[in-house]
Amino acid sequence: MQTKEIKILVSEYKNEEELITTDRELVLAARRIAESAYAPYSKFKVGAALRLTDGTVVTGSNQENAATPVGTCAERSALFWANANYPDFAVESIAISAIDQSGNRAARLSPCGICRQALLESQHRFQLPIRVILDSRDKIEILNSVESLLPLSFNGNALNSVE
Ligand code: THU
Repeated sequence: MQTKEIKILVSEYKNEEELITTDRELVLAARRIAESAYAPYSKFKVGAALRLTDGTVVTGSNQENAATPVGTCAERSALFWANANYPDFAVESIAISAIDQSGNRAARLSPCGICRQALLESQHRFQLPIRVILDSRDKIEILNSVESLLPLSFNGNALNSVE
């Protein structure tokens, strides 16, 4: 038996001013689109902004439903729209931001498990790591791959037993 350690790298920034221009624009787009969320049940409004490899920025917000599981997170709203409308361009980066129930930027935001798996599929499809930019109230964190959010993940390779 061996115990292995799996490490992830997280780059932490104080605020958007510290980011490179393209990342700053993505964070601002995520904050902006969060306002469009339809979240009458949770009152937690999330925005996601994706940058594609051709430079296009695609945004989405969470869309809730009285029948709870029908609702969709911001990340998947944006991701599926991007992959449907720009099937030839990979997602290079995603920024996510949220407004909490008191109307302030959420203290902590990180994608749910289903969105992590959906992002992983897109990364696998295009064979390009997706950078993940997490905009929280007092910091912005950047991960260089969705695998950092989902260690020991399952992807299509497993179906053919490819390592
Ligand atoms: N939500 C997102 O849209 N993205 C996340 O990363 C976390 C959660 C949504 C789902 C639901 O509409 C609300 O936030 C509360 O969970």
